[in-house]
Amino acid sequence: MHTIWRVSGYLFRYKGMFALTLALALGSTLFFIAIPQIIKVLLDDVVAARRSDLLLWGVAGITLCFLLREVLNSLRIRVNNTLEQRVLVDLRRDLHGKLLDLPISFYDRRKSGEIASRVIEDVQNVERVILDGTEQGLVSILTVVGISALLFAQQPVLAALVVLPLPIVLWLAARHFKATRKNWKAVRESSGEMSSLLVEDIQGNRLIHSFALRERESRRFAAIAEELRTRTLRAMFRWSVHGPGSSFIMSLGTVAVVGLGGWFLIQGEAPFTGPFTFGSFVAFFAYCAMLYAPIGTLNNLNHMFAAGKASGERVFEILDHPIEVANPQQPHAFPRGLVEVRYAGVSFCYPERAAVVEGLELTLPAGRVTALVGHTGAGKTTIANLLLRYYDVTSGTVTINGVDVRAIGLEDLRGNIGYVAQDPFLFDGSVEDNLRLARPGATEAELVAALEAAAAWDFVQRLPDGLRTLIGERGIRLSMGEKQRLTIARVILKNPPLVILDEATASVDTLTESRIQHAIDALVRERTTLVIAHRLSTVRKADQIIVLENGRILERGTHEELLAARGHYADLWRVQTDVIPEYESEREPLGR
Ligand SMILES: Nc1ncnc2c1ncn2[C@@H]1O[C@H](COP(=O)(O)OP(=O)(O)OP(=O)(O)O)[C@@H](O)[C@H]1O
Ligand SMILES: [Mg+2]
Repeated sequence: MHTIWRVSGYLFRYKGMFALTLALALGSTLFFIAIPQIIKVLLDDVVAARRSDLLLWGVAGITLCFLLREVLNSLRIRVNNTLEQRVLVDLRRDLHGKLLDLPISFYDRRKSGEIASRVIEDVQNVERVILDGTEQGLVSILTVVGISALLFAQQPVLAALVVLPLPIVLWLAARHFKATRKNWKAVRESSGEMSSLLVEDIQGNRLIHSFALRERESRRFAAIAEELRTRTLRAMFRWSVHGPGSSFIMSLGTVAVVGLGGWFLIQGEAPFTGPFTFGSFVAFFAYCAMLYAPIGTLNNLNHMFAAGKASGERVFEILDHPIEVANPQQPHAFPRGLVEVRYAGVSFCYPERAAVVEGLELTLPAGRVTALVGHTGAGKTTIANLLLRYYDVTSGTVTINGVDVRAIGLEDLRGNIGYVAQDPFLFDGSVEDNLRLARPGATEAELVAALEAAAAWDFVQRLPDGLRTLIGERGIRLSMGEKQRLTIARVILKNPPLVILDEATASVDTLTESRIQHAIDALVRERTTLVIAHRLSTVRKADQIIVLENGRILERGTHEELLAARGHYADLWRVQTDVIPEYESEREPLGR
């Protein structure tokens, strides 16, 4: 019930509208249950007394009741729709906002298709519950209560017979809810898996072709689709027994009314209430019929609620997910001017993994370039992630001019760090849009200057619409090197005091690389920079080179110092440059 209360919490944000829906539902119910009363009077006092002059008035009264009921219904549906759409937007926005706030670690452990299925399909299921629950549920409950009260007032013995099956039906409904909820949960899980497989197949399309995985993926999809089918049918078949079964039990009440009511009619009177007329019988019978419809609706809703609850739980699971990388309560401003970054005793491990970084002591001097090199998986990107607070350190501190990064507001922190990631990401939009993300107010001249500095203007110029060429999902595909140069241009435009370049020149040819190197040289001037690279040629000029192995610092120094030390770095350099004349003289004696 918890989930349903929480969804209701969203409804109660709009108290006025909710009260109005309730009032309108109450009004239309009253007009509806007044009808059999009028019929009773009509039969007993007008038809039986053969007062044809009054018949028309009675008919007019009934018509009016039907009309008013539907007018109020129409108003209620409108108010209700507005209400539920507001609730839905609130729910979706909360969910989307939460997804933006959640730390990267949340996404590490989840598949994007699965998350999307929660935001789209599960919210839709919750929507149906809100929609039909408030729309039909409210009216049904009011009708059942109102009619039961009237039945008891008219003939308590018959009324007791009518409501006798109710507790049994309620008990069955509760059981059904519980069992079917589990089934629906399984259905939702299968559906999430199917979405994630779909997203995987779309994203991994090239891989599927290159490895000829079509058959394998078809089989996987068929298996999931089959699983979804069995699970859905299991959830639905249960209803095929429960729904009609409950209806049958309820209708036994009607049978009892026909029998006992007929007997009362023959006697001409009933216990407690005295004379029992034909009109009383018809009115009573009409009420019975009117009672079963809303009970049936409630039963249907119960079934739907079970599905909605399973979905609601999946939605709230995201909404309740703790934000591990939290914004500080009273954020410290990002330090002004040149900044120095210090990692002090930093250890870090990804969840359920051994430590990636251990006892790291590292200073990025203000205004200088620090290069991080090391084998793949050494923890280079991880060290950058800790500075950006994509993850928080397990122990130790990362400080910027002595201020712990955890004390700085997240947006402020990331806004002051220019990051060229290993896997550059561009948004769907034009080149210009993607650049303006860094500085919305930039002039076209500034955009061009940034592109020129990043050695990207050449290829952007050659794109069909220049700066306005669409790139990303709906536009032109860029090569990895082109993407990287655009992301560098973005950082140049952003002009931050702190820059992280992760393998910024990994995917470009040597010529472009040297041009980008120039761009980077321009970029890193007067800034504190962390360069991560596999290619040592790109880090030669760094003020400080750190050689990392398994999250520990092996060596540190300048290019010349490290070569002279003839350690790990010197070995790497030799392998990468193969034969470089200026060091050849140094190496030769070694070899002999
Ligand atoms: N999100 C993650 N969850 C769990 N483990 C991770 C995650 N990201 C990286 N790792 C692990 O942490 C270690 C360090 O990874 P990291 O990405 O920092 O390496 P790297 O030095 O940047 O390597 P490369 O040169 O290939 O980019 C690796 O063993 C990797 O498997
Ligand atoms: Mg990396």
